[in-house]
Amino acid sequence: MTGDLIARALKVKQSFDLAGRRIWPNAYLAPMSGVTDICFRRLVSRLAGGRTGLLVSEFVSVQVLTQPGGRENAKSAREMAFAEEERPFSIQIFGADAAKMGEGASIAAATGCDFIEINCGCPAPKVVGKGGGSGLLRDLPNLANILRTVKASVDIPVTIKVRVGWNDDLITLFETLKIAEAEGAAAFVIHGRTRAQGYKGLANWDLIAEAKRRAPAHLPVIGNGDVVRAADVIHRLETYGVDGVAVGRGAMHNPWIFAQVADLYEGKTPKEPGKLDYLWVFSEYETLLREQMDLDLRVLGKLKQMAARILKGLPGGSLARLSLLRSQSVEEFRGHLHDYFAGMGEVTRDYGVLTELNGSDQTEVVTGNTYMN
Ligand SMILES: Cc1cc2nc3c(=O)[nH]c(=O)nc-3n(C[C@H](O)[C@H](O)[C@H](O)COP(=O)(O)O)c2cc1C
Repeated sequence: MTGDLIARALKVKQSFDLAGRRIWPNAYLAPMSGVTDICFRRLVSRLAGGRTGLLVSEFVSVQVLTQPGGRENAKSAREMAFAEEERPFSIQIFGADAAKMGEGASIAAATGCDFIEINCGCPAPKVVGKGGGSGLLRDLPNLANILRTVKASVDIPVTIKVRVGWNDDLITLFETLKIAEAEGAAAFVIHGRTRAQGYKGLANWDLIAEAKRRAPAHLPVIGNGDVVRAADVIHRLETYGVDGVAVGRGAMHNPWIFAQVADLYEGKTPKEPGKLDYLWVFSEYETLLREQMDLDLRVLGKLKQMAARILKGLPGGSLARLSLLRSQSVEEFRGHLHDYFAGMGEVTRDYGVLTELNGSDQTEVVTGNTYMN
């Protein structure tokens, strides 16, 4: 089975060219506000032994960045901070006003990041209400203007990330693709849901494949939605012909996914994490968190966020999650974590649960409130 997967992995496209830079492996961590901060990204990068093709910041508000004193705003600075080991690194910005997007992009570029990405996918009413995020899909001339202005404001490549449309009656994917091409975007990233879908139902990979067919050869098309295992990455590349795959929630459930893809690409059997790997992830994450935050309660909050996802599909995971999420201190949390894994035999994970989670009507995303509400 694994041998077959390795053989398939050796046949798929493993990298793409982003404005002259080779992105390998071509499966990378999708930006997730409230999740993919510098700590989580460095964790993922360490798990993959540095084999992360590309890392992207959480989305950053240009409204905040461009207000008086905005450059010094602590939240924006935190969101834009990255470690050298994360390169190539992209900063994603959002907003609706072209001039502010241009100015915000140049402030972001001054951090020394490698790429700027424009967010055209955020569904949150407070972002969309002002015309930003997926609101741009309802005003394509403004989207084109923003891309043009941002490109003119920075001397690093600019990518865009879109949803397939506003709703089923307004599929804008092919228009946004034309804009990306005409205005010289360096990559076109597609989350295969409409804004109306939010996170419910499955991503429409047929639309993603059609966009790839219509895109010019020089414009990398990256597909995104519902990928939880390394095997899913291989399947998406084989079936839909995309140049790369961005992985969002799947990486919260399975932060080893990029290591596993890189292993497959190198012809090796990917490692299924065992007990010690799970425990290591939590302790490494705690170390990375402590470098960024002093408050024990904040560290505990992030560890709980990780536990809520990473234990899904593990035997007895639901019960263990309850005690972990009720922990009052990091020490108590660690104790429950060790008890849980000590009482477990071999770690076997039901990945099916994770895919169903994405497709179900009950899909619920509790983290990243800024992005959702
Ligand atoms: C908590 C959360 C926060 C997100 N924040 C961002 C963001 O800041 N920028 C962005 O482009 N997409 C954001 N997204 C969307 C993801 O990048 C991705 O497009 C979406 O989750 C679908 O991919 P998945 O099925 O692999 O999760 C967010 C998603 C989640 C769940």
